[in-house]
Amino acid sequence: MKTKIAVLVSGGGTNLQALIDAQGTVLNSGEIALVVSNAKGAYALERAKKAGIATETVLKKECGSQAAFEEKLKEVLTAHGIELIILAGFMTILTENFTSAYPRHILNVHPSLIPSFCGEGFYGLRVHQAALDYGVKVTGATVHFVNEIPDGGEIIAQKAVYIEEGDTPEILQRRVMEQAEWILLPQAAEKVCASLQEEK
Ligand code: GAR
Repeated sequence: MKTKIAVLVSGGGTNLQALIDAQGTVLNSGEIALVVSNAKGAYALERAKKAGIATETVLKKECGSQAAFEEKLKEVLTAHGIELIILAGFMTILTENFTSAYPRHILNVHPSLIPSFCGEGFYGLRVHQAALDYGVKVTGATVHFVNEIPDGGEIIAQKAVYIEEGDTPEILQRRVMEQAEWILLPQAAEKVCASLQEEK
């Protein structure tokens, strides 16, 4: 039996798309059983529906508190029999209440070489803006396990990407996605799913 994966998203979902496209080629030991969004109308939900994957939307505002939001997420994941959680552009921090329920069973993709440009406040274009402001010549992407420290869990995979003359945050974001994130995330997901299979 393949590892049942839930992908948690907030926006466009290009990393979700990379995972969907990798199913049956790079990603063989796991299957995406559920996509959960914390934002209404996220385009990632359309990508999931087109691929015939179940979707759920869980809004923090409707739950009333962070604790209730995390409990609702757990309920939904349990109801779908999820074994591995992948944060793919999920733009909210999960507390220890949530992360401690799934040790080494949550992955995140971050658009820099951790420990640079990561942690609270570093998400999306802000990460690339910070890399350009600092003047680094190399950036990249990291896939890591998620624990209670934002972007602080064990690193699974990293890939470097060169910064080029004239880069804007948008141009750099696209290059980091194309050259690193969309390749690295499915590979890391496969590696973790395969090791979970061995444990079974
Ligand atoms: C990706 O670049 C992802 O690494 C980043 O947001 C983008 C989401 O794009 N995530 C973070 O910054 C998390 N700290 P996508 O919705 O097209 O996959």
